[in-house]
Amino acid sequence: MAKASKTYRCQSCGAQFSKWVGKCLECGNFGSLLEAASDAHQVHASDFKATKLRDLVIPSEEEQRQKTGLGYLDRLLGGGLPSGSVVLLAGEPGIGKSTLLFQMLSQSSVQSLYVSSEESLSQIGRRFKKFQKDLGDRMFLLAEQNVSDILNQMELIRPRVMVLDSIQMLHAGAEKGFGQSTNMREVTDALVSRAKQLDISLFIVGHVTKDGEIAGPKTLEHQVDVVLVFGMAEDSRLRILQAQKNRFGPSGEVVLLEMGDGGLVESQEADSYWVRKHQKQIYGCAVAGVLLGSRILPVEIQALVVNSYFPSPRRSTSGFEYNRLLLILAVLEKRMKIPFSRYDVFLNVVGGIKIADPGADLAVAMALISAVQEHPLDPDTVYVGELGLTGEIRPAPLQKDRISSLLRRRGGSVVSAEIPGVAAPPKVLYRSSIEELNQAKTSN
Ligand code: TYD
Ligand code: MG
Repeated sequence: MAKASKTYRCQSCGAQFSKWVGKCLECGNFGSLLEAASDAHQVHASDFKATKLRDLVIPSEEEQRQKTGLGYLDRLLGGGLPSGSVVLLAGEPGIGKSTLLFQMLSQSSVQSLYVSSEESLSQIGRRFKKFQKDLGDRMFLLAEQNVSDILNQMELIRPRVMVLDSIQMLHAGAEKGFGQSTNMREVTDALVSRAKQLDISLFIVGHVTKDGEIAGPKTLEHQVDVVLVFGMAEDSRLRILQAQKNRFGPSGEVVLLEMGDGGLVESQEADSYWVRKHQKQIYGCAVAGVLLGSRILPVEIQALVVNSYFPSPRRSTSGFEYNRLLLILAVLEKRMKIPFSRYDVFLNVVGGIKIADPGADLAVAMALISAVQEHPLDPDTVYVGELGLTGEIRPAPLQKDRISSLLRRRGGSVVSAEIPGVAAPPKVLYRSSIEELNQAKTSN
């Protein structure tokens, strides 16, 4: 049979083998073996890597995307999962990463493989027994930490979707340590390239460090097509899942999930989520009306401002663009004469989400002013607006929609930039500059 005469050639060192193995026995590279054609004519034909544009077969969007089994995940990805894509799911331990992905595979209609490098098969079985109901023989489980063995199983099982939980606990061989940057890059490379060759959609679980960064090298985020980040508010069963990078759809998009006895389900409690109800008013907090993908949601911004003892004061942000913070600080220093250059400044977006929305400028500025003046803001007020270099407040994209959506669903009041020619509706306060806004606040 033709199968018996197959040979495999290492793309790195050229060594040939009669059997496919995950790690080249000559040079030690992972996933570098490709099937080599046995007859000389075929070799010649397959040398042609380029295709004429005219001959290119472009699959339709429908054909390319498959349903994951979770409606909200399909939406987050921009309409299903493109085959052969690689998704990184990051979040703190215990937030629900394993639950989400296990649930996804158990509801998926295609052949799948769940690889756990952290738990034994019986642990997984016990924990996720409730999702076992109508799995049939579609889902395979593997408890393994060795990359070569995982690569071999991928080759054998040929799943359409595969989960690796987690990347940090995999190892390339006995001589290498866990979770080291170079090792992780190498391991990820091997798995990703094999998954692409076999057209497997791959979900990789990654942990986050205490500062909210994805553990391991930054390149991990560049090696994948989509980065999903799981965040959680304090004292809450609600979780937020955000597509912070997405090659296939809009990035920034979020879904809210609730962890219950039946696993994770989509929640409708969007508005109460990010804004913790403070018993008493606390200074240094402001609520922004933010555009996250296609949703408008209130998000709490927290600022801490303290005297600096460093020659150049510290600035640290989490969930907000660093350079944008520098710009806002410069505007406040110049226009409002607040000596931020003497203070260390820390800024945090509550809930582990990332904001890339100029409409949050005003709330960031207000949180900073409130922190430095030790003057709490009204927790029922939401701030919407972009800040200009002259201290002017400009309407944010979709300003009108933001205002109406926030008032309808959350109540309270909104402070925002003036929309030319439109009188301020009830409960909306128009302010045209940061100085004017601050004067109004302190005279209250
Ligand atoms: P897990 O998915 O193991 O988190 P991660 O993989 O991110 O570390 O989820 C852990 C928590 O979720 C754990 O505290 C138990 C809870 N949980 C539920 O409340 N309901 C459920 O149906 C499941 C499976 C877990
Ligand atoms: Mg887990």
